[in-house]
Amino acid sequence: MNLIFLGPPGAGKGTMAFRAKEHYNIPHISTGDLFRAAIKNQTELGKKVKSIIDAGDLVPDELTTAIVEERLKQGDADKGFILDGFPRTIPQAEALKKITNIETVINFTVTEEEVVRRLSGRRVCKGCGESFHVEFIPPAKEGVCDKCGGELYTRDDDKIEAIKNRLSVYASSTEPLINFYKVEGNLKDIDASQHPDKVFEDLKATL
Ligand code: AP5
Ligand code: MG
Repeated sequence: MNLIFLGPPGAGKGTMAFRAKEHYNIPHISTGDLFRAAIKNQTELGKKVKSIIDAGDLVPDELTTAIVEERLKQGDADKGFILDGFPRTIPQAEALKKITNIETVINFTVTEEEVVRRLSGRRVCKGCGESFHVEFIPPAKEGVCDKCGGELYTRDDDKIEAIKNRLSVYASSTEPLINFYKVEGNLKDIDASQHPDKVFEDLKATL
């Protein structure tokens, strides 16, 4: 089950990937998470990408593709994987074609207005990476992860200026992938504006 989760920032790709990875027992590979881990660990890669990510711009294609290629070589991806946030440009999609086959591309659809509401209220667990929302998906105890008890924080790129930039970068660089995968014939739309339980039901039905 080789999957791509496509969609604008805040569509709920990460939220659904958390559920799907457990349900299907396949790894969740988020380029955003890989970059944030590198920043946290202050690696060479992390130093290179921090200012790009904080501003909501895209990390260069070669760097991003190399990381994904490396990650897919780890044995756990042999029986399938969820690529979340990759590819994000046509050159990345072309490069991915040379690395592996993709079975299904899920395109999570949601309005810009909803994206802004979701991202400005998002809280992420420092421990396990699970996403919450102060209003829509609140944790049982404020500031504490339901799953692992970790501390919840606000991402540096969930500030309004960076959110707006990510939306415009999405429109110019990533949205063209919808047509790219339509032509490939493996694109499935899912209405991501619904309750998360319903989005997950639709996802399972589609897969
Ligand atoms: P990345 O981490 O991928 O960020 P993104 O695409 O902006 O997506 P998000 O993680 O913000 O949104 P999501 O769809 O995962 O939503 P979530 O589930 O959290 O990338 C970050 C940066 O890294 C990029 O800007 C770029 O700089 C760099 N980068 C990454 N990949 C790259 C690539 N391939 N090439 C170049 N650069 C790259 O949900 C959002 C919120 O909504 C949460 O609060 C959640 O609780 C809530 N929510 C989720 N579902 C629902 C629902 N159904 N109803 C109500 N609320 C919901
Ligand atoms: Mg995400």
